[in-house]
Amino acid sequence: MFTGPGKDTRFRLSETQSKALAEAYGTPLYVVDETLFRVRIREYKAAFASAYPDSEITYAAKANSTLAVLKIAYDEGCTIDVASEGELRAALLAGVPAGACHLHGNNKQRHELEFAISQGVAHIVVDNFSEIDTIQEILKTQPNENPRLVLRLAPGVDPKTHAKISTGQADTKFGFNIADGSAEEAVKACLEKKLNLYGVHCHVGSQLVDPEAQRSGGELITAFAAKMKSIQDWSARYINVGGGLGVRYTQEDKPMGLEDYCRLVVFSVQSALDGSELKPKLAQEPGRSLIAEAGVTLYTVGVRKTVPIGPGQTRTYLCVDGGLSDNPRPALYGAVYDVELAARSDFDWEYQTDGPGAASVEPLGDATYTINGKHCETDRLFPNVTLPASVKQGDLIQVLVTGAYNASMASNYNRYQRPAMAIIKCDGTHALIARRDTWEEMFAREIIGTQSPQSTEIREIN
Ligand code: LLP
Repeated sequence: MFTGPGKDTRFRLSETQSKALAEAYGTPLYVVDETLFRVRIREYKAAFASAYPDSEITYAAKANSTLAVLKIAYDEGCTIDVASEGELRAALLAGVPAGACHLHGNNKQRHELEFAISQGVAHIVVDNFSEIDTIQEILKTQPNENPRLVLRLAPGVDPKTHAKISTGQADTKFGFNIADGSAEEAVKACLEKKLNLYGVHCHVGSQLVDPEAQRSGGELITAFAAKMKSIQDWSARYINVGGGLGVRYTQEDKPMGLEDYCRLVVFSVQSALDGSELKPKLAQEPGRSLIAEAGVTLYTVGVRKTVPIGPGQTRTYLCVDGGLSDNPRPALYGAVYDVELAARSDFDWEYQTDGPGAASVEPLGDATYTINGKHCETDRLFPNVTLPASVKQGDLIQVLVTGAYNASMASNYNRYQRPAMAIIKCDGTHALIARRDTWEEMFAREIIGTQSPQSTEIREIN
């Protein structure tokens, strides 16, 4: 399978698969296609290695840290970027050795650093001066360890992406600023403390369809490493340019082809390395571009309602059995998705609609819908969706490109159970890789106060 630019190879379920999955596991349901996930990793690795042979692809676990997904990424030769103790524990449970994990975080807690160091992570991406001090203190109690440290740098480039996922600019909570001298101070501090300083890192932002910011971020941190070689005599052995390419949420998104993209990033790094004597390993840590397009979410259509919105105008709502608790991205980032009809209901529902658009005969052609979830707020998921005019209760719809930052950002808002996740295996069969929350799990953490009624002060109101 070639998944390059121009071709729409985003994963989508067939009608037969949709029905079989909905029947087996219920909806809403996250579905991941194992083949496309593996293909994306192989393509990414090949494109990057052909541009720079001493390269490494690290899968960013935050995109989707389901254990089965992490296991596939590791089986395909990725190392794993973990952003918390929880993600590190997930990787370990999935069978990934700690030595293949990189720990990130802008405010790592001491217990997270202690855990990561005791497990022997491949390296820690250090964000700030107090973290350097904490690591030094921990090493006094774990004298046999001297973990590799990679400095997170703020290169001061502004990516063209949603403000909530822009991280490369100077005004950021992440990393050591290059321009104000903090990054150089951090190198000196690590060398003075005899810490095992291994390399530099930046992550300028996410969903970058235009990779210019990433290119210049890579160039700036490499130039910084070259400068540190000449003035501090410190040789960076590792350069990590952060997250990967943006993806095609809709047909309007046109990310650059993978090979051109890798060549572009590598070319900038190589030019900045020229004459420096440095020969670092070069790493990238994509999440979204590996898993997003391999995932869909399957929902069942419920209530259909047509309401007046102005003189002679109506809007038809379709309400699905999920919402912002399984996909918070529309509410958080105004994210837009492609939605398709996956399967018609076998059940012979009487065609029904409420309001001024009511029809008694099944309509032909397409119609425009506003798809909302079932949470107690507007919970608008997908506006302006074109589907057959006859869509009705019980039909299944699929939302494309939900493999990344959906399940990993899901919540129990309104006490809804988070959806199950199924996988379509390479042989075409399906299996459950995460089941729906149970009611026991929903309440397991909670304790009802034991205050006795006698001790409750009741204020009298005159
Ligand atoms: N490395 C670091 C240090 C990161 O912070 C991230 C993403 C990545 C790698 C992976 O980036 P990717 O290849 O997936 O673009 N919740 C947001 C995305 C937040 C991404 C944060 N960092 C969303 O749903 O769009």
